[in-house]
Amino acid sequence: MSEALDRIDDVAARATAELARVASAEMLEQFRIRYLGSNGEVRALMQLLKTAPADQKKLIGQRANAVKEQITAAYEAKKAEIARRPAAAEGIDITEPGRRPLLGNRHIIMKVTDELVELFGRMGFATASGPEVEDEFHNFVALNIPPQHPARDPLDNFYLLTSRPAPDGTLITAPANLLLRTQTSTVQIRVMEKQRPPVRVVIPGRVYRPDTVDATHLFMFHQLEALVVDHGITMVDLKSTIMQFIRAYFGPQTKARFRPSFFPFTEPSAEVDVWFEDRGKWVELGGCGMVHPHVLQSCNIDPEEYSGWAFGFGIERIAMRKYGIDDIRHFIENDVRFLRQF
Ligand code: DAH
Repeated sequence: MSEALDRIDDVAARATAELARVASAEMLEQFRIRYLGSNGEVRALMQLLKTAPADQKKLIGQRANAVKEQITAAYEAKKAEIARRPAAAEGIDITEPGRRPLLGNRHIIMKVTDELVELFGRMGFATASGPEVEDEFHNFVALNIPPQHPARDPLDNFYLLTSRPAPDGTLITAPANLLLRTQTSTVQIRVMEKQRPPVRVVIPGRVYRPDTVDATHLFMFHQLEALVVDHGITMVDLKSTIMQFIRAYFGPQTKARFRPSFFPFTEPSAEVDVWFEDRGKWVELGGCGMVHPHVLQSCNIDPEEYSGWAFGFGIERIAMRKYGIDDIRHFIENDVRFLRQF
């Protein structure tokens, strides 16, 4: 047999063996390029014809064509097979059930905050916000809380420290005169610094206190602050607005009461309790009062001309009353069985 015929048989044998090992579309494409491409082995077989002796041309031509057809047909068959189960060929099990994306929902505190902002919005209140890292002026001084006041005790506040390297490489730490705000009342000051009366705002936000965590205390919680300043504002405005809010949010039959209290930034001051039906007891929502003249003065508002009222309520407390939640720790434990209910 001629050398040329041997070569044709050799190419046919190798192509058959190699095609059997093809397991992916990528491998098949490499096979196609190597054998059936324009520089491929099958094309090279056709070149043999040119140099073949005249008496063998016909035989070699027929064999080469037969092998070409055979390899092409086998290639097409393989291609169809891979196309029928392409994912499986790439190592993906397309029979496995899909993974359902986990859809979260808004946190209950965010939801209640939105509801409160919306409700007060309908009563004509704008919304304001301020920084959670606050200076002593806004957290204390402007709110009529003097330097010796127990509220400023380092044990009752998260004060910040600054540190810088000393020449010997050790760190020098010093008080930064900054703290995580303990109350959203700070934003009363920030609003009045920028805006002249009439002022009518609510301020939702986080506050921080180094309290031991239990069923009614966290080291971080949320408050809704309100501030109204205008001509001729009286205690009647304060009481009626708060009662209107309580009845609109918790229901028209909700029992609430005002207890005399003390806050440095209001005079007179009161605490507001709401009757918790499920617990059978009064629970304090927060404090309120008529804005202290010193507070207005520290924002360059003349207390002879203007008066105002303010409150600061715990949003967790409001959510607990509204949705019958018995333990404040639920809010931060991230138990999806709790979170999903809202
Ligand atoms: N800032 C007070 C607190 O965190 C609550 C409060 C009391 C806010 C009276 C007020 C207010 O605006 O008028 O305990």
